[in-house]
Amino acid sequence: MVGGGPLAPLYDEECSVWVPAWEMKWGALVHALGDSPNYEATDAIVATAARRGKRLRGHTLIWHEHLPAGAERLSTRADWERFVAPHVGSVAGRYRDAIFEWDVVNEAIEPNDNGADLMRRSPFYAMLGPDYVSEAFRLAAQAAPAARLYLNDDHVYYAEDWQELRRTGVLRLLERLIAAGVPIHGFGMQCHLDTRRRFDERVFGRFVKQLEGFGLTLAITELDVTEAPDAGNRSVDERRRRAAEEVRKVLAVALDSPALAGVVTWGLSDADSWLRHRSPEMVTNQGLPFDDTYRPTPMRDMLASLFASTRTRHPT
Ligand code: G3I
Repeated sequence: MVGGGPLAPLYDEECSVWVPAWEMKWGALVHALGDSPNYEATDAIVATAARRGKRLRGHTLIWHEHLPAGAERLSTRADWERFVAPHVGSVAGRYRDAIFEWDVVNEAIEPNDNGADLMRRSPFYAMLGPDYVSEAFRLAAQAAPAARLYLNDDHVYYAEDWQELRRTGVLRLLERLIAAGVPIHGFGMQCHLDTRRRFDERVFGRFVKQLEGFGLTLAITELDVTEAPDAGNRSVDERRRRAAEEVRKVLAVALDSPALAGVVTWGLSDADSWLRHRSPEMVTNQGLPFDDTYRPTPMRDMLASLFASTRTRHPT
């Protein structure tokens, strides 16, 4: 998340890496298919990050949401060559020296689309089939040879069956990409956590070990916690402690992996969290390291202690 306004001091003091939550997405750069990209906002973000000494994470080159108008109808290889390949090359190339790692493809897995490969039937899939993923990575590597390239996805932490299916989809896709020699460096776990879910450290630990087995770097890329729906009549303080505990449970496993390279929260303050806009019951959600008045919550202290303990175990 890139910080301006009242949050600027926090983004300076609390973060070494920034990520634009939406500004680098295709639909934010290109209003309608065929329009030229408008890089004004992203150039400003890149300049600010450089001025403030922050590394910048790119999010995201290929995603089925936030598309230019008309992109939802793309369906042929010719469409890919005409619109998608130039988009990837243009964005990744423009920021080849400014972005140290990219979410090249975001949320490629969707078992509810009933594909044998458990992949999402997005317009990108319609254009090239499952090979759109490897093609996107190859284009990104060509345009930004120094950037580390990630596959990014969510809902792979909890013991529910539907998340097991997603983990299977992720592992199958990674296996294919690596077997094909695709230039992929990491897997990003968004970590939009939820206190209603059932966590089993053995299940998530096994998945992290399987990811490690691919030799990939791991990253937590969009950490926040949904806690409002089962907050009941708990006090705000209790709800914040519960959210911090949800982070501890999951991150204690992830941070135990020597492959885990970094943790990025999806925003710093609940005041500007996307979660607050999800539903009426979410307007008071307590899911980030700083509250509505930018004061630290227990989650901020929890993250600090998790990082401190990790540094002693993985000093590199
Ligand atoms: O405020 C701007 C306005 O100035 C601008 O003119 C207008 C033009 O589109 O957009 C407004 O910004 C909105 C932005 O959020 C800031 O609130 C965008 O409309 C809106 O599309 C954008 O939504 C973002 C969404 O992705 C789609 O890009 C959310 O902030 C962001 O939290 C969400 O993030 C996604 C990750 O990329 C992938 N994982 C799930 C996560 C949550 O959905």
